[in-house]
Amino acid sequence: MTANLIDGKAVARQIEAAVVAEIQRLGYAPGLTAVRVGNDPASEVYVRNKAKKADELGLRGTQRIFPAELSEAGLLAEVAALNADDEVDGILVQLPLPKHIDARKVIDAIDPTKDVDGFHPFNVGLLHLGRPSLVPCTPAGVMRLIDSTGVKIEGAHAVVIGRSDIVGKPMAALLLQRSATVTICHSRTRDLGSVIHQGDIVVAAVGRPLLVTGPMIRPGAVVIDVGMNRVEVDFADRLAHDPDKLRTLAKNGSVLVGDVDFVRAREVAGWITPVPGGVGPMTIAMLMQNTVTAAERRRR
Ligand code: GUN
Repeated sequence: MTANLIDGKAVARQIEAAVVAEIQRLGYAPGLTAVRVGNDPASEVYVRNKAKKADELGLRGTQRIFPAELSEAGLLAEVAALNADDEVDGILVQLPLPKHIDARKVIDAIDPTKDVDGFHPFNVGLLHLGRPSLVPCTPAGVMRLIDSTGVKIEGAHAVVIGRSDIVGKPMAALLLQRSATVTICHSRTRDLGSVIHQGDIVVAAVGRPLLVTGPMIRPGAVVIDVGMNRVEVDFADRLAHDPDKLRTLAKNGSVLVGDVDFVRAREVAGWITPVPGGVGPMTIAMLMQNTVTAAERRRR
């Protein structure tokens, strides 16, 4: 058996079309400001892509870029200015922040009605009460991907691997809200493989390349891979069974792999997301959706 591929790009395009329609109905362009501090290469790409997608869909996307030396007080002042700016509907401060800045303080300072990442404790609280407002983009996107398969979430055993504030915890809350039986695994979980094997739905979000192997997967399961791990030539041995990744690795000197051993898991799963092209495009699409939602609520 070979799993069906879940096409994140195609599902993201549907969401983006809905966002465009909603903006036309609103009659104005909601504003999204993405803040980046320092020059983390991955963050540079993410922030640029977010601002670009915003403009492409008819929002007003702005990047605010600061040197890594920006003080915590300086960043808090920037957040306060964005909170006060009526043209700004969504604020996103790209993580990670430089070590001298307390990310919690910064997240706490964002106006919860503009918190399009859904990271503010007020929005986290609403999510866990089953009263979601602005929901973290990646887990919200994963729910759309699971729904795109037609597999029923209610009553299913969903295994979430990873307990981060950005993905694992909100993911578990969203699945629970849809009446899945939810297990959260993490670095201390005993006998990880046998826990994963119970999953009708498996969401891997730990940032460990190829942690989830084929035999761990329950036959027919829905497998969603949130991992985005860039590996280099020293990893080639572990990709010996994946000619596509090996080719990219040979060409570019590095290659992006997920937390799931895609080639092996695909032989067992019912549905599976590729990396890249699975969860990634959904995160940005849901950010656009959150910005329109925030604008609608704030300005009505
Ligand atoms: N860093 C990694 N993922 C995210 C995200 O979803 N939002 C922000 N702001 N930073 C991130």
